[in-house]
Amino acid sequence: MRRQCPFAPPAEYAQLREEAPLARVMLPSGRTAWVVTRHAEAQQVLADPRISTDITRPGFPALTPETPESARKRGRLHEGEFFNVDPPEHDVYRRMLIPEFSVKRVKAMRPGIQTVVDRLIDEMLSGGPPADLIESFGQPVPSMVICQLLGVAYEDHVFFQSRIRNRKMVTVAGETALARAAIAEIRAYLDDVVTRAEQEPGDNLVGRLVTERLATGELSHNALVGMIHQLLIAAHETTHNMIPLGVLTLLRHPGQLAELRADPALWPGAVDELLRYHSIVDGAGFARVAIEDIEIGGQLIRAGDGVFVLTASANHDERSFERPDDLDIHRGARNHLAFGYGVHQCLGQNLGRAWLEIAYETLFRRVPGLRAAVEVDDLPFKYDTAIFGMYEFPVAW
Ligand code: HEM
Repeated sequence: MRRQCPFAPPAEYAQLREEAPLARVMLPSGRTAWVVTRHAEAQQVLADPRISTDITRPGFPALTPETPESARKRGRLHEGEFFNVDPPEHDVYRRMLIPEFSVKRVKAMRPGIQTVVDRLIDEMLSGGPPADLIESFGQPVPSMVICQLLGVAYEDHVFFQSRIRNRKMVTVAGETALARAAIAEIRAYLDDVVTRAEQEPGDNLVGRLVTERLATGELSHNALVGMIHQLLIAAHETTHNMIPLGVLTLLRHPGQLAELRADPALWPGAVDELLRYHSIVDGAGFARVAIEDIEIGGQLIRAGDGVFVLTASANHDERSFERPDDLDIHRGARNHLAFGYGVHQCLGQNLGRAWLEIAYETLFRRVPGLRAAVEVDDLPFKYDTAIFGMYEFPVAW
């Protein structure tokens, strides 16, 4: 089910949600799976240890028909890639990273993020108008901050950006050859980053993991590469899509934007509301498989059944949010599921919120005349990728 409008979940969701909290759907692969449509049941599924994210388990739902290659891929995960691993193995890796994303550590990162954001806005202003907000701002903000986080050279953000641009050719239908090549290049690069840190550990995330975990034998070289690879992708693909979408949405709500400009203390609430409103990681990003028979929402899910949580539907569930289709920066929408829920809930959410807050606040403060340079109907939205966003966003001021 695709979005038909960039400012709303797929139209079918409302109907499904009305009918039942869980619905049986036919996948393009010809297999069937459950979709979870309501907020309460979505939380239940995401928190239930009998529902697994392990893609190697039998029955794990694939959107495309199984090929020899996809079967091979399902059967092998790189060490350290903990997104698709269940506890207790999942927790081993996650626990090592938790201190890196604490409220305190993220607070300490804010001045660095602000410097990156200001520098990019300076460059955008000196080169335009017009400018593509994605190329000049949405993409480089996360890749440059990730370079700081990983302790890799500032110049390398160009490398990351170009590879990540190719990697994003990962669509809901699977990986393209270009994406596969980009993934291999990123991994090779990160392997090198870890090797250098082993020789000379810096005061950054990789350096600390090398000193505290690798040197003690808790973590292997390859597992560390796997961990930071997933971190990089998780951080980049989400933030760089949220930045332009949030900007466009606020431009379409001038009253709320004026309030935010007048009172910057409103930004944290606005960021959560934008995350809820767009719910850019949806069904395909929340694939799961039941490992035991369980009953949820009055529905029996059998062991081996595939499950997709439609967080964009849950976040627009009228049982949990009043007027869910309206953007309301005063809503206090912290119970949204845009960062997931349960043991896999976004590890970088404090950092993601800080990035978005600083990016939006600074952009709207420093570029008061910011506007879309083309009509919304002419903007290329990513209706085909696993994470929603925009391919280009021409702006003027
Ligand atoms: C602001 C935009 C962001 C959004 C919307 C977002 C969304 C999500 C979602 C929905 C999940 C859970 C997926 C699932 O349960 O299957 C997740 C997991 C994760 N995210 Fe984020 N994320 C964002 C930013 C970040 C950042 C900035 C980082 C790191 C620097 C990050 C690191 C992670 C990691 C490591 C996981 C996996 C956690 C686990 O499996 O235990 N994310 N994210």
